[in-house]
Amino acid sequence: MKTRITEMFGIEHPIIQGGMHFVGFAEMAAAVSNAGGLGIITGLTQKSPALLANEIARCRDMTDKPFGVNLTFLPTVASPDYPGYVRAIIEGGVKAVETAGNNPVAVLPFFKDAGIKVIHKCTSVRHSLKAQAIGCDAVSVDGFECGGHPGEDDVPNFILLPRAAEELDIPFVASGGMADGRSLVAALALGAEGMNMGTRFIATKEAPVHDNVKRALVAASELDTRLVMRSLRNTERVLNNAAVERLIEKERRLGPDLKFEDIIEEVAGVYPRIMLEGDMDIGAWSCGMVAGLIKDIPTCKELIDRIMAEAEAIIGQRLAGFAKAA
Ligand SMILES: Cc1cc2nc3c(=O)[nH]c(=O)nc-3n(C[C@H](O)[C@H](O)[C@H](O)COP(=O)(O)O)c2cc1C
Repeated sequence: MKTRITEMFGIEHPIIQGGMHFVGFAEMAAAVSNAGGLGIITGLTQKSPALLANEIARCRDMTDKPFGVNLTFLPTVASPDYPGYVRAIIEGGVKAVETAGNNPVAVLPFFKDAGIKVIHKCTSVRHSLKAQAIGCDAVSVDGFECGGHPGEDDVPNFILLPRAAEELDIPFVASGGMADGRSLVAALALGAEGMNMGTRFIATKEAPVHDNVKRALVAASELDTRLVMRSLRNTERVLNNAAVERLIEKERRLGPDLKFEDIIEEVAGVYPRIMLEGDMDIGAWSCGMVAGLIKDIPTCKELIDRIMAEAEAIIGQRLAGFAKAA
């Protein structure tokens, strides 16, 4: 399939794997890229620019296809060494960057000079327009369904994507709630030129996470996610578990007085224990409502091939059949 997104990133299928903390290691990115999508290494999971450089080199050993790096701009006081991470990306010869979080305007000139395409992930039309105005090449439009940080507007993709299509000139992918060929066709129908998946890619054979995480996704339904940290204006969609219930109880009790320190035990530094050790109840971890559509643990190639075959069948048979009958 050919879209402005496949052309921009030099990939076979219009499918991107979004950056995911403690999931987006070289193994994940290489598996998605080898299957014809765009795999993304999560920059900040590597604790220093030198470690990111090493992760990029490891990924290059595993694939000769294009892959990208996610750089998330966190609302934290102690800022990571962003200039160092930017250098590691450029010197590593990476040609695609997914930015997320705060506005990436400060790093764009460096990426542009290095010929790197930047896709910024945002959760609203106004942020998408801002990304276009500052010179991003594409946007990933992340609806309310998404795993991770859906923003504070709560607009689901059935509205957000066509609104983005009405306003944007640069191409965009649909992100949040995407799982299969139906998702891809719907995304294309609503104006996107591809899709970005997070949660679905965790339940694959190559995802370098503990089997408990994959099993939890297969077991979960679309009713099993919760929104946390709303009062801190840092809303996150996570899979429900004992720690999340504790966190929500604190939110209920403290209301607007809740501070980050009150929930630090449930949210800070929990990812390695969940993703690598499979300690599933230790804290809150991002997960999309799309968990309800995840029923198996295929390889990335099986998943992507299945998505493309299903999408082509829907377009060529089901939809073409309706059009003919009309
Ligand atoms: C476990 C997990 C960790 C994530 N970590 C990040 C991250 O570090 N940076 C980022 O930009 N997005 C992160 N995301 C968001 C994904 O890149 C993607 O936008 C989102 O998962 C799309 O929604 P979906 O899960 O419904 O596919 C994360 C998502 C998950 C599920």
